[in-house]
Amino acid sequence: MTVNIKSIAQPELHKSDCLIVPVYTDGKLSSAAQSLDHAGHNNLTQLLKRGDISGKAGEALLLPHVTGIKAQRLLLLGCGDNSEISPADVKKIINTLLEQLNNAHIKSATLLSESLSVAGRSPEWLSEQIARAIALSSYSYNATLSKKPTKPSFKTLTLAQKPNAKLKSAAATGSAVGLGMNVARELGNLPANICTPSYLAKQAKNLARNNSALKTTILEEKKMRELGMGSLLSVTAGSSEPAKFIIMEYQGAAKKQQPHILVGKGITFDTGGISLKPGAKMDEMKYDMCGAASVMGAMNTLVELALPINVVAIIAAAENMPNGNATKPGDVVTSMSGQTIEVLNTDAEGRLVLCDALTYAERFKPQSVIDIATLTGACVVALGSHATGLYSNQDDFAAELIAAGEASGDRAWHMPLWDEYQPQLNSNFADIANIGGPEAGSVTAACFLSRFTKAYRWAHMDIAGTAWVSGPKKGATGRPVALLSQYLINKSLINKSQG
Ligand code: BES
Ligand code: MN
Ligand code: ZN
Repeated sequence: MTVNIKSIAQPELHKSDCLIVPVYTDGKLSSAAQSLDHAGHNNLTQLLKRGDISGKAGEALLLPHVTGIKAQRLLLLGCGDNSEISPADVKKIINTLLEQLNNAHIKSATLLSESLSVAGRSPEWLSEQIARAIALSSYSYNATLSKKPTKPSFKTLTLAQKPNAKLKSAAATGSAVGLGMNVARELGNLPANICTPSYLAKQAKNLARNNSALKTTILEEKKMRELGMGSLLSVTAGSSEPAKFIIMEYQGAAKKQQPHILVGKGITFDTGGISLKPGAKMDEMKYDMCGAASVMGAMNTLVELALPINVVAIIAAAENMPNGNATKPGDVVTSMSGQTIEVLNTDAEGRLVLCDALTYAERFKPQSVIDIATLTGACVVALGSHATGLYSNQDDFAAELIAAGEASGDRAWHMPLWDEYQPQLNSNFADIANIGGPEAGSVTAACFLSRFTKAYRWAHMDIAGTAWVSGPKKGATGRPVALLSQYLINKSLINKSQG
């Protein structure tokens, strides 16, 4: 999958398997489309007049033979109202384009993209989105299917536009983000009997193998015990799969520069433990490592783009199971921070693994720490599947991440982390309880984490509603890799401008 950018002076003379012509609801042809129309004796004008295509976003008309042009085929692509194409329209337009090309088994095509402009967004933004969509469309799950689905045919898109460095780098970014999302999707979709904590550790090692800027370290349970990670270990106590604490250090800038840290919840299966979950949809708890998967995906993007920035990824990987050694409701455990925790519900396990990872993060003296977790069903109730829940101990940090979400089309919504919610976590038998009662469950989960993140600039993303979709199209989405990548790109741009 590649996206090229190339000026095309006379589209009618351009050789291609398929030439894609944007058409708009106002029925006016762009100057490139006019050249084609002339060459074909007004064939396009006539088609539009006849109403064969109205120009609405999402419409398309494939013409297998067109006279007067060198391209094999012409795809008329409805792009909506030329003056106000929205980012949502863009998604529709690109998906239609890819569907049409793949259905016709076309491998490469040229989009006359010069006339396409999206309200409030730059041409770079558009080429990034197109490149990302193409990378995303190349993914299909097949690891455990005995009959492998046929791969989509489409590989190379040329954007007919005047090339420049910014446009090219935007396309490269889009591809790298799409590939990072695919990494996250695959890890998410793999079943829990394959994608175990050990499997995640192996993938992290693999990513570092061919990259000298990246170093992966795996801590075993023995080491976690020495470090005092009693909270994390209480989650894995009921499982036969060993927990893994994965640390990936990427150095793309001067060593002295403090790193940004990504922390991922890597529960490879969440049964709830002794506080066992009901059976319906329990299979979807294989997705409870999607925070970890998004961290791996973002690291993949980072490495691919060789960003000039230092980043540490930390993944707390464990399985939450109910055997005879399992932690029981009411048990009190001691976290690495020294704070004691009353485990009132063993199904609130994400915060128990994250708190020790967040304490461990302190040793890197980070510029910022973001944890990403499929943390609460309550977040799905609050925000549904469109926005990730975002919490931070610094409002300007939240604003930065919200902006990265808007820019990348991977949105988050700022949720409150007010002190008033904290007493819900009071315990008679420990410093803190691991659940805060029925009200504001996503907020109290964030409040729990906030007790362990006082030393640095911190944000928490609850991706319970955004990491995967249920129903007939069940599958991991790769969110919030795009948001995280955008944030790291923004941070490395600051580095670049400071020389
Ligand atoms: N992994 C779940 C959260 C979850 C549930 C995400 C459903 C997506 C869909 C988490 O470990 C959990 O079980 N949370 C509990 C917390 C409760 C016991 C306070 C929940 O949300 O019910
Ligand atoms: Mn749980
Ligand atoms: Zn969980």
